[in-house]
Amino acid sequence: MRIAIVGDGKMGRAVAALATARGHTVHCIIGAAENAGAEALTPERLQGAHVVVEFTRPEAVVANLERLTDAGMPTVTGTTGWGGELPRIASLVERRGGALLHSANFSVGVHLFLRVAEKLARELAGRPEFEGYLVEEHHAAKLDAPSGTALALQARLKAADPERPYPVTSVRAGAIPGTHTLSYDGPFETVTLSHVARSREGFAAGALSAAEWLPGHPGVHTFEKMLFGDSR
Ligand SMILES: NC(=O)c1ccc[n+]([C@@H]2O[C@H](COP(=O)([O-])OP(=O)(O)OC[C@H]3O[C@@H](n4cnc5c(N)ncnc54)[C@H](OP(=O)(O)O)[C@@H]3O)[C@@H](O)[C@H]2O)c1
Repeated sequence: MRIAIVGDGKMGRAVAALATARGHTVHCIIGAAENAGAEALTPERLQGAHVVVEFTRPEAVVANLERLTDAGMPTVTGTTGWGGELPRIASLVERRGGALLHSANFSVGVHLFLRVAEKLARELAGRPEFEGYLVEEHHAAKLDAPSGTALALQARLKAADPERPYPVTSVRAGAIPGTHTLSYDGPFETVTLSHVARSREGFAAGALSAAEWLPGHPGVHTFEKMLFGDSR
């Protein structure tokens, strides 16, 4: 498969390295310097690519997705921080018969964790002696807190167990790639469920699997829907 990559940062480079290792061809890697206003994303530049993987910045992603949709390119994006524009982009993709797969988290383990956490919340919903809370830990350079994954987890837990607020504590220290822990503390015992990311390779592997799957699947998809056949 020929894969075009938009975004020459940590994730774009990780996806390119893994794509080559899996036997794909990297059609091009388009960085910020040549792509102001998404001007490099022309049908001519992308001709011959089967799919695009986009990891850039919140201020760049929307213009990139518009141009990629115009160019008829199936696109996987992992860029975060543009959720407010998703409905507009989704309807553009649908109208044009395009294919888009988006996810703020391409770790398979995180999506398993979210689903198991939701089940645990339902099991503990009728047991007020346990107090539920979340702790998320990330490297010192991560600016946003709580993490998007912690917020998604909190929303799902509250939906499954509306009586508990599930407060989040954020830790920013060192080089931690990302750890999320759900705990229920009772008078005599604690139940914990954790997801620990060891490196960004897991995110790159998930995004690449999505890129392998997307061509031939028109519409707007999430990674969770691809993995489990449904989406929340
Ligand atoms: N979904 C997931 O699983 C997952 C995992 C990790 C990260 N992320 C998200 O993915 C995004 C990228 O993460 P990262 O760690 O790769 O960040 P990064 O290392 O900062 O890379 C972002 C790259 O995008 C470039 N860029 C900016 N505008 C561009 C444009 N118009 N066209 C092409 N490239 C452009 C930046 O260039 P300049 O530096 O020159 O501006 C930078 O090289 C972030 O939103 C992050 O939160 C998602």
